[in-house]
Amino acid sequence: MEPVKVGLLGLGTVGGGTVNVLARNAKEITRRAGRGINIIHAAARDVNKTRGCNLDGIKVTTDAFAVVNNPDVDIVVELIGGTGVARELVQKALENGKHVVTANKALIARHGNELFATASSKGLMIAFEAAVAGGIPIIKAIREGLAGNRIQWLAGIINGTTNFILTEMRDKGRDFADVLKEAQALGYAEADPTFDVEGIDAAHKLTILASIAFGVPLQFDKAYTEGISGITREDVAYAAELGYRIKHLGMARKRDDGIELRVAPTLIPHRRLIANVDGVMNAVLVYGDAVGPTLYYGAGAGADPTASAVVADLVDVTRTLTADPENRVPHLAFQPEAIANVPVLPVEEIETAYYIRLLAEDKPGVLADVTRILGDQGISIEALIQKEPAEGADTVPVILLTHRMREKQMIAAIKRIEALSSIRAPVTRIRLEHLGAKG
Ligand code: NDP
Ligand code: HSE
Repeated sequence: MEPVKVGLLGLGTVGGGTVNVLARNAKEITRRAGRGINIIHAAARDVNKTRGCNLDGIKVTTDAFAVVNNPDVDIVVELIGGTGVARELVQKALENGKHVVTANKALIARHGNELFATASSKGLMIAFEAAVAGGIPIIKAIREGLAGNRIQWLAGIINGTTNFILTEMRDKGRDFADVLKEAQALGYAEADPTFDVEGIDAAHKLTILASIAFGVPLQFDKAYTEGISGITREDVAYAAELGYRIKHLGMARKRDDGIELRVAPTLIPHRRLIANVDGVMNAVLVYGDAVGPTLYYGAGAGADPTASAVVADLVDVTRTLTADPENRVPHLAFQPEAIANVPVLPVEEIETAYYIRLLAEDKPGVLADVTRILGDQGISIEALIQKEPAEGADTVPVILLTHRMREKQMIAAIKRIEALSSIRAPVTRIRLEHLGAKG
């Protein structure tokens, strides 16, 4: 059979990795796909740049539209990123009747609903395994492997850059800005690294995971997002003393009244496997009613790991090119007409436990005031430690762990605690998840 012909948009970290993996494993890939997969046309901004991949036999252009308009191209692989020209190129590829493979989570999370509708109406596929958790085949696992389950919740470390930063800061005491620079040099970070640091990239990925887990439309604008820049070394150390690690966690939970969708720094018990996922590695913990917890682990970013997912999608699309479109795996796991409009809950309604750190004046009655306020709000305390005051300081750090509650209860309590004259505002609040059977 004739090899399938691919047009590649972008020759950066992931594009270069894709060229390399396809060439290196060509024989194995052909044996799996049933035919060869050849890149015939590629686009980048600068055709003269030295690249770490062999482009012999590939026509390279700066005009990305020439690739999507090339009548010989069967599958377009979009590895430019963002929602500008990448969106136009994917739309044009679909208009031209070409299947699409992409690693672009921003594009899928923000415009996937429309793009999938267009693709389905034309009998085309958009494959996006590389968009979530780099090399981990998490889309396939949830969409196909767990298809017999009602998925109740999932939690993931789904941004390699922030996990790398938090790990290096904790283990080596390195400076935030310095580690971020290294993550950029290693090709982990987004073109705009605030997407990583502020949790936007993780929220894109969580939006995608929630849709395929719960059968709801992609609703990125409803996801709650909090970055890692507020995490201090003290909080990391106190959390460790209490048996927890702080991770930048994406959490999606299905409740009777809606869906929780949030990315935030979160304390996780040290004994959980996911709490020990370090560096650029990612992990996703999925809880299905039939299977219970399952955990998926692997490299979350980088050239070859991400290319592994892109190439797997190319093999998948190649295998199903001749299949009846009605019988393909649906883009969002559920049949399009069965997607349910379940609301994403506002952050005030989420349910979680908390780590609280206060700076209190070292005098009698202060802790009693704090615990009374928590009690008034119906918040119950799981642990409380008061640290020694630093030399010469007139305040002491107090750390509290709470049981689960609605976020609005904690918001109200913190407002009252910060108003106490004996407490130095602001109060630090970090969410805490046990990630047991109930999430
Ligand atoms: P890079 O910045 O390394 O590569 C982007 C590529 O796109 C470059 O080759 C660039 O050309 C090319 N490009 C940009 N604009 C145009 C244009 N208008 N026309 C033609 N080519 C253009 O990005 P990554 O490879 O890191 O990321 C690509 C996608 O993969 C993004 O969506 C990203 O979110 C996603 N992703 C990245 C991962 C990673 O580990 N890096 C992991 C998982 C997903 P030139 O080289 O000449 O500048
Ligand atoms: N910037 C992303 C990360 C790339 O660090 O996880 C992989 O999606």
